[in-house]
Amino acid sequence: METIDAYQAVTFDHNTDEIVLLDQTLLPNETRFLRLREPEAVWEAIRVLRVRGAPAIGIAAAYGFLLAAIGKQSLPPDEFRRDLSAAKTYLASARPTAVNLFWALDRMEKRLNATAGQTNADAVAALRAEADAIRDEDIAMCQAIGDNGLTLLAPGMGLLTHCNAGQLAASRYGTALAPISRGQEQGYNFRVFADETRPLLQGARLTAFELHAAGVDVTLICDNMAATVMGNGWINAVLVGCDRVAANGDAANKIGTRGVAILAKHYGIPFYVLGPTSTIDMATATGQDIVIEERPPAEITTLWYEKPMAPAGVRAYNPAFDVTDNALITAIVTEKGIARPPYDESLAKLFT
Ligand code: MRU
Repeated sequence: METIDAYQAVTFDHNTDEIVLLDQTLLPNETRFLRLREPEAVWEAIRVLRVRGAPAIGIAAAYGFLLAAIGKQSLPPDEFRRDLSAAKTYLASARPTAVNLFWALDRMEKRLNATAGQTNADAVAALRAEADAIRDEDIAMCQAIGDNGLTLLAPGMGLLTHCNAGQLAASRYGTALAPISRGQEQGYNFRVFADETRPLLQGARLTAFELHAAGVDVTLICDNMAATVMGNGWINAVLVGCDRVAANGDAANKIGTRGVAILAKHYGIPFYVLGPTSTIDMATATGQDIVIEERPPAEITTLWYEKPMAPAGVRAYNPAFDVTDNALITAIVTEKGIARPPYDESLAKLFT
């Protein structure tokens, strides 16, 4: 079996000016790396979840912006900058919920603006450095999230996670899975339960795959089995990632997360949300202000099946995320520290 290091979600080849992206729609059956040269291919990869997970989407978008700049380098300076503004809007339209997409593109635009009056080549060099910085900082952030999260856990604990917030969703280590990776390095021997995560099966295809590859004791369960494993007394803590955390601590994450949080409350199990501060959106007041992506009904009715598993023409509702009320969250773990209720105060403190 390949080591976990083989599964880098997104990197950039500066020799060929291509994004190297692991096509996550093919996992766990095939490990295929794509080489992307056009922003349109990056937009498509984000839209159909070849690359997914909030931090990885941000990194891919930053490199997508870099590709746009490289492609337009020979234009007159005014046109170059105008087209890049359009490229930013275009890339930002790929998915609506994960704030890291907009955060990374804002950073790239800011860096571009800081090169006003310089040559296009200078601007491209600055954008190259910025996109690399976004990626490198993510590695350091995930490591710190892992170490902070580990302080909440003890060796041998049973942990439940939903969706995939591991290395495949970020750069290295991931967010919600970072304490598990860091604990694995230190002999914590956690017992991890991974929700399969309907409808796109990120838990089955990605979390189980990546933890298994890393040698972690992982058990895959269907989403509707979480209450049973909690009731059995097998779960000591829940760890989930996030796509956008509002200023009051309400947290958007993969659909089904809120149900897990409600169950955790019922069974008296701590429920931790882990993510970098780039996923905290202080400009979004509450979870009600977060746009929830709706995806095609076919993901529920036909996508994974040889034959349709629902009657032709039946209506299907497919929100990709839900919002967990801050009252259900025990703590929010970031690279800058652990925030606890009241979140409007503790999250604001992380930014001062
Ligand atoms: O639709 P996806 O696969 O992009 O959803 C991913 C999640 O919900 C993750 O939990 C979240 O982005 C955190 S990833 C570190």
